[in-house]
Amino acid sequence: MTIKTVTTDSIAEATTLLQNGECVAIPTETVYGLAANALNGQAVSKIFAIKNRPNFNPLITHFSTLDMVKDYVDLNNEAAKLTTSFWPGPMTLIVKRRVNCKLCDAVTAGLDTVAIRIPNHKTAQDIITACAFPLAAPSANTSGEISPTSAADVAESLGDKVKLIIADGSSAVGLESTVIDTTGDKITILRPGAITADQIKDVIGYDIAHDDGQNTDTPKSPGQLLKHYAPNLPVRLKAYDLNEGDALLAFGSTKFMPTSKINDRHILNLSETGDLYEAASHLFAYLRKLDKSGASAIAVMDIPNTGIGLAINDRLKRAAQK
Ligand code: TXA
Ligand code: MG
Repeated sequence: MTIKTVTTDSIAEATTLLQNGECVAIPTETVYGLAANALNGQAVSKIFAIKNRPNFNPLITHFSTLDMVKDYVDLNNEAAKLTTSFWPGPMTLIVKRRVNCKLCDAVTAGLDTVAIRIPNHKTAQDIITACAFPLAAPSANTSGEISPTSAADVAESLGDKVKLIIADGSSAVGLESTVIDTTGDKITILRPGAITADQIKDVIGYDIAHDDGQNTDTPKSPGQLLKHYAPNLPVRLKAYDLNEGDALLAFGSTKFMPTSKINDRHILNLSETGDLYEAASHLFAYLRKLDKSGASAIAVMDIPNTGIGLAINDRLKRAAQK
């Protein structure tokens, strides 16, 4: 495995590997993705093998322009409105697959719908443009682990299973894209993210429901079935007290937390000023750090359940699941 920073040469090398049916880890604004040619079934099957991902869990396909998207799928009126407002950006749309759509079946895990996104990241866009085919890319981590927000995170999770990682700093958003189902009577959110229900409502004109798939054995998003974002240490949410040996994932002021009970090195603050966007950008990196800190549990302070806070709490709830 090699980690290379962004240069004309490294982008050309990534492109050649992708053209030859190999996988390459690439940066995006949300999290790092493990990319392969979405038209090539063998290439896509390597993603599932490397991640140890169950083959019933479909992947997101990434495009560089709306024209490229329209070569593969049709967008209904509401989907088109959302693309105008939020692409390129941290939004994935579930749309109907065209009957003769050239995306390989493995990408969509046999479903008649497909997840599509145009990332707002220059390097990701440059690589897709150079390839001229869409890239299937789930988060570049072993299935079930915390998503990677840096090249080092990818290397730690996938090691030599991936040939090339293109390094381009930390992912600015830090949480995976908002997944929105546009195939039903009404738009619904399947996975909360940086694009919030209120922002979507402003574009679409009605309240947007969140279908988190918790009350069914067949959720719309098959990924909702799986244990996710799991650190090794137990995670305790809405903590207002601390035990000896705890690590603290703080948010805002820690004035009322008994931090003297624990080791200073075991405290990380997602945002001292209580900024939810800053908190989102640090969430996965700090969970990883505290998981390796030598503490015996991770206590997480309460995080307001508004705006992007909903997405943060969604990930934390899954991280805390036993
Ligand atoms: O920000 C992101 O979305 C990142 C970056 C790399 O783009 N990707 C990402 O991919 O988070 P992944 O595979 O970790 O999550 C994709 C989610 C899964 O929960 C999957 O079940 C769901 O999208 N999904 C994919 N295709 C779907 C479909 N046709 N219908 C419903 N859900 C789908
Ligand atoms: Mg993932």
